Amino acid sequence: MILRALIVSLLAVGTIAAPPAMSADEPIQPIEAHKPKNENMVELGKMLFFDPRLSKSGFISCNSCHNLSMGGSDNLPTSIGHKWHQGPISAPTVLNSSLNLAQFWDGRAKDLKDQAGGPIANPGEMGFSHALAVDVLRSIPEYRARFKQAFGSDQIDIGKVTDAIAAFEETLVTPDSRFDKWLKGDKTALTQTELEGYKLFKESGCASCHNGPAVGGASYQKMGVHEPYKTASKVEGRFSVTGKDADRFMFKVPTLRNVELTYPYFHDGAAPTLEDAVNTMGRLQLGRKFTKDENAKIVAFLKTLTGKQPEFKLPVLPPSTNETPRPKPFE
Ligand code: HEC
Ligand code: HEC
Repeated sequence: MILRALIVSLLAVGTIAAPPAMSADEPIQPIEAHKPKNENMVELGKMLFFDPRLSKSGFISCNSCHNLSMGGSDNLPTSIGHKWHQGPISAPTVLNSSLNLAQFWDGRAKDLKDQAGGPIANPGEMGFSHALAVDVLRSIPEYRARFKQAFGSDQIDIGKVTDAIAAFEETLVTPDSRFDKWLKGDKTALTQTELEGYKLFKESGCASCHNGPAVGGASYQKMGVHEPYKTASKVEGRFSVTGKDADRFMFKVPTLRNVELTYPYFHDGAAPTLEDAVNTMGRLQLGRKFTKDENAKIVAFLKTLTGKQPEFKLPVLPPSTNETPRPKPFE
C-alpha cells in the first residue's frame, strides 16, 4: 500500500513513467495450455469420453451432452438422457472444467474424477451401472491393452475409468482467446467496443463473481441477490449438498470462457441469448438496468472469451467382441 502510494505520488510529479498494464492487475488471468503427464491415459480417456457403450442404450456418450464440436455442451435448456429422459438441469461445458473449485452446479463432486462416475450410473443420463461398464471394457482386448499402457496393468476398474476420463478432461482448456492475447500485451487484439464492454463488466461489478482464469468457477454465489430469480425449476443449488438454508439458490458461478458457444444460459437453461443473460445478471445480481448499447458492449466483450477449441483426431473405437454385453436401448 505504502509502495503504491509512493508510486502514485512519483507519477503525479512525473518522475517515473507509468508501469505497463499487467494482467496481474486484472480480475481475469489468461488460460495456459495443459501439458499432460501421461499421454496414454489421455488417449484412453478420450476414447472413453466418446464411447457410447458406457451407456445402457449403447447410444449415449459423454460427448452426447458435452459435445466438443459445440463448446462442450449440448445447447439444450436441459439435457436428454436414457430413453429420452428430460433432465432437471442444464449441462455445463466440460471446457476448462478442471479450473472449477468443484464440479456440478451445486459442487457435489469434489473434482473431475469424482464427477466422471456419476453420469454412467445415473438412470436419467447413461442409465448403466459401473459393473456393466467395466464388463464392456474388459470384453474388448484393445481396451485391456490400452489400460495396461496407461496404468501398467490390464485390470480394469471404475477408478481407472474415471482417472482416464479426468486426465482427458484436463486437456480440454481453451487458451489464446482474443481477450487473453490482450491480457498478454497485444493491445490490438480487442476493438474499442469490446474494451468498453470489459470496462463495464469490471465497473458494474460482474467481476466480483466472474473472475480468475475461468472468469467464474471459483465460488458459490446466490442467484438473485437484488431480486429473486423466477423459475419453474425445482433445483435448489448448494442447499441440496449442505442442507443449510443460507445455501438455497447458491450455485457455482459458471465460467464465462466460451460463453458465446454454450447457450442457453443459467442452471435451468431459461435465458436463450447472451443479451438476455446479461440483462438478467445486471438486474438480479447488481440491481442495474443496462441500456441496449451497454448490453451490446458487454456481450461483445464476452465473445472475446472464446478460446482455441480442443483439436484432435476423432478416436476410432475398438469393436465389441462376442463377449461384450449388448446394448438395451429401449429398456
Ligand atoms: C445425458 C446428458 C449427460 C451425459 C451423458 C453426461 N453429462 Fe456431464 N453433465 C450433464 C449435466 C446435466 C450436468 C450438470 C448436472 C448438475 O450440475 O447437477 C453435467 C455436469 C458435468 C460436469 C461438471 C461441469 C461443471 O462445470 O460443474 C462434468 C465435468 C461432466 N458433466 C462430465 C461428464 C462426463 C465425463 C460424462 C461421461 C462419463 C458426462 N458428463 C456425461 C449432462 C450429461
Ligand atoms: C453475485 C455474483 C454475480 C454477479 C455480480 C454476476 N454474476 Fe453472472 N452468474 C452468477 C451465478 C451464480 C450464475 C449462475 C446462475 C444460475 O444459473 O442460476 C451466473 C451466470 C451468468 C451467466 C450465464 C452463464 C451460463 O453458462 O449459464 C452469464 C452470461 C453471466 N452470469 C454474466 C454476468 C455478467 C455480464 C454480470 C455483470 C452484469 C454478472 N454475470 C454478474 C453470479 C454472478
